Amino acid sequence: MKEQLEAIRKSALDAVAETRTAADLEAVRVRYLGKKGELTAVLKQMGKLSPEERPVMGQLANDVRAALETAIEARSDALAQEAMAARLKAETVDVTIPGKKVELGHKHPMYTVLDEIKEIFINMGFEVMDGPEIEQADYNFTKLNAPENHPSRDWTDTFYLTEDSSILLRSQTSPMQIRAMETYGVPIRMVSPGRVYRKDEVDATHSPMFHQIEGLVVDKGITMADLKGTLNAVIREIYGPNTKTRFRPHHFPFTEPSCEVDIQCHKCGGVGCPTCKGEGWIEVLGAGMVHPKVLRGCGIDPEVYSGFAFGMGLERLAMGQFKISDLRLIFENDMRFLSQF
Ligand code: PHE
Repeated sequence: MKEQLEAIRKSALDAVAETRTAADLEAVRVRYLGKKGELTAVLKQMGKLSPEERPVMGQLANDVRAALETAIEARSDALAQEAMAARLKAETVDVTIPGKKVELGHKHPMYTVLDEIKEIFINMGFEVMDGPEIEQADYNFTKLNAPENHPSRDWTDTFYLTEDSSILLRSQTSPMQIRAMETYGVPIRMVSPGRVYRKDEVDATHSPMFHQIEGLVVDKGITMADLKGTLNAVIREIYGPNTKTRFRPHHFPFTEPSCEVDIQCHKCGGVGCPTCKGEGWIEVLGAGMVHPKVLRGCGIDPEVYSGFAFGMGLERLAMGQFKISDLRLIFENDMRFLSQF
């Protein structure tokens, strides 16, 4: 039995030394110290020994077990350390590699202009409203007093979404005049910016989609003087305090009287140049006193209330402000263009 125990000690210690992983080591432990292990099997034969031999062999068996346990524990620690070292090596992060640069964008030039304009109106006590781009013909035309045969109702001018011409992509932000009055009643002071759509051929100054900002003021005693005063103030905020304006008679179905407003060309001072196409003046917006029929249609008594409305194109404003020569550049989203602003 002595030889047997010594043989187990030797082969077990060799086996421990050869293990490469924690699983290997556990297998070795089970093989020698487990319930059906080799050392356990020898211990079970102790009963057959003589009373003199028994304590000696018992002592030896305990020594072997203790030696084995110590070796397993030491090997276990060593393997854990090896595993950690391997992991640290595999997962090293090179902190000296330069990081990935996060490119910070900035506002689109047209939205820079829009935000400035909103700010001007907010400071004058206007509310900013948002409205649908898919609109009813009723709101885009009929409630705005557009006659049935108005040319802008034509399928060649407006994008219709239904065969019966009842739903369309709004061709102007003016339907928001109606929606605002119907929803909030009077008095009211609001602006509403957004996209509008027309079947225009694309060129340097036209696009089938562009942006307008609509404005509406309705209260008791609002006159043409309020219209002129307000629009002059806004235009001078945008184009500078010395900007000259010109109010020209015009026609819109939903305003009476109506006008178009021009600014004197800031490039040539009114003499005429390519920027103003030789005119000396640049048209910036349409406006007028809200038509009594429109007020009545929204349940507002035109004998008591009056108001003015206006609409301006935002692209043209941005083009003037940033000296952009071609409208298409605003929508192409070419970074070489946009990063200049
Ligand atoms: N909706 C008109 C257009 O698109 C502009 C306008 C708005 C005119 C409000 C008068 C009042 O041309």
